[in-house]
Amino acid sequence: MDKESDINRRKFMEVGIFAITGTIAAVSTAALARFAVGPSFEKEQAKWIEIDSEDVQDEADGFARVVLEYETKDGWLTDNARALAYVKRTKENAVIAISAGCTHLGCIVTWDEEQKIFKCPCHDGRYDADGIVISGPPPAPLKRHKTKIEDGKILLSTETISYGGNKSV
Ligand code: FES
Repeated sequence: MDKESDINRRKFMEVGIFAITGTIAAVSTAALARFAVGPSFEKEQAKWIEIDSEDVQDEADGFARVVLEYETKDGWLTDNARALAYVKRTKENAVIAISAGCTHLGCIVTWDEEQKIFKCPCHDGRYDADGIVISGPPPAPLKRHKTKIEDGKILLSTETISYGGNKSV
């Protein structure tokens, strides 16, 4: 074997080894980075929480106050969260769940059974029984929790959605 082909083969081997180790290093780094940082970018899915259907009344009887307690995850951090909703049955197989969070600055609204309105104690915001603003500074209707009924069980989503007057939400 002549000297030149020996050098070429050695060069080829060197380049091959660099390429293989470089690829292994890049793949390992990407996997480690995803393991270390990935969870902080993961968006948590909404949870469905079963509530006591005995508490939920028919439309004529007003709202039941329901407290949702659940765990939240934000990246590596977990926390306990609470949300208050006003729930009532609108049909045999349908309920609505109005979030108690005022859309102005987030104070908790209360249901006034006599006047049939929601009142916010912070800046005197008022909402009707559908959560539509009647007076005060709130910029938007009260939000709603998604709801569903499965096998007679009432489930509320931890996710709230804006309410635009759609009676089925
Ligand atoms: S926080 Fe409810 S009116 Fe301001």
